[in-house]
Amino acid sequence: MILGIGTDLANIERIAGTLDRFGDRFRNRVFTEREQAKAARRKDEAGTYAKRWAAKEACSKALGTGLAMGISWKDMSVSNLRTGQPVMELTGWAAERLAEMTPAGHKATVHVSLTDDHPWAQAFVVIEAEPVQVD
Ligand SMILES: CC(C)(COP(=O)(O)OP(=O)(O)OC[C@H]1O[C@@H](n2cnc3c(N)ncnc32)[C@H](O)[C@@H]1OP(=O)(O)O)[C@@H](O)C(=O)NCCC(=O)NCCS
Repeated sequence: MILGIGTDLANIERIAGTLDRFGDRFRNRVFTEREQAKAARRKDEAGTYAKRWAAKEACSKALGTGLAMGISWKDMSVSNLRTGQPVMELTGWAAERLAEMTPAGHKATVHVSLTDDHPWAQAFVVIEAEPVQVD
């Protein structure tokens, strides 16, 4: 069953402006070390951050919380499989929220898909729950 969906569109130029203005203060507040390492290796650093920003916003919508005050952005992070497929990892409050919304006897999976076409970066997140197999 589907527990939640979320979407977000982020402007890469706006993220580039924030990076110019706040630099590491912005990077460290919003992105994990792993996300920062990926962006630093890329030619399109702002685009890489904008997709991940959109993913965090979309994920907060799928969790039904939105970006309430005091939540940690780093508790919703994106990593990539060897194939390039993005994977959303939840920790802290986000993992707790996911556990709360997952029905008993089910296991939740967070699916994420990203795209960008300058100046826009877009993310979709779908949270699915499957019954846990009992032998
Ligand atoms: C997946 C693919 C269609 C992306 O298209 P694109 O036009 O380059 O880029 P888009 O802006 O639409 O999307 C980019 C995002 O797609 C996602 N993506 C990349 N590979 C993916 C895959 N195999 N499955 C699902 N999503 C994937 C990533 O999140 C990427 O953004 P990120 O690298 O910042 O996380 C393209 O990379 C492709 O055809 N890859 C083919 C396979 C390949 O090269 N594999 C290499 C390792 S086996």
